[in-house]
Amino acid sequence: MTQTILLLNGPNLNLLGQRQPEIYGYETLEDVARIAHDAMAPGFDLRAEQSNHEGQLIDWIHEARHSACGIVMNPGAFTHTSVAILDALNAFEGPVMEVHISNVHKRESFRHHSYVSLRAEGVIAGLGVEGYAAAVRRICQIVTA
Ligand code: DQA
Repeated sequence: MTQTILLLNGPNLNLLGQRQPEIYGYETLEDVARIAHDAMAPGFDLRAEQSNHEGQLIDWIHEARHSACGIVMNPGAFTHTSVAILDALNAFEGPVMEVHISNVHKRESFRHHSYVSLRAEGVIAGLGVEGYAAAVRRICQIVTA
């Protein structure tokens, strides 16, 4: 049976490719979905979603409890603020990988703390959009181990 990986991108990531390209690069969210899709092992499929709204992201995480084997998430700025997203991820039983396109540790100090890291199996930061591929590969490995 095919297993679904949920790829979630948070606020402002709809502007990927246009927004601060010196930090986030020129690839778009469509490129991200393609890169993530290409990284999947056989027997997996991908559902890719983006929202600027915390509640919508939480609703998708709740749905994933019944429909996804793992979550790859770039929570954007909610990484640093959202206990609610952490709580939702804690209600999900599969593996979670946290991705940041930029190296958040090289940036402002408010980006150094992540609520999501308290839940994630792994955190990838600063690999650009290739980080999504590494995260998807890791989810496939964990789920098939
Ligand atoms: C980001 C880093 C966050 O600090 C920022 O708010 C983002 C993107 C990244 O992918 O590097 O929106 O998650």
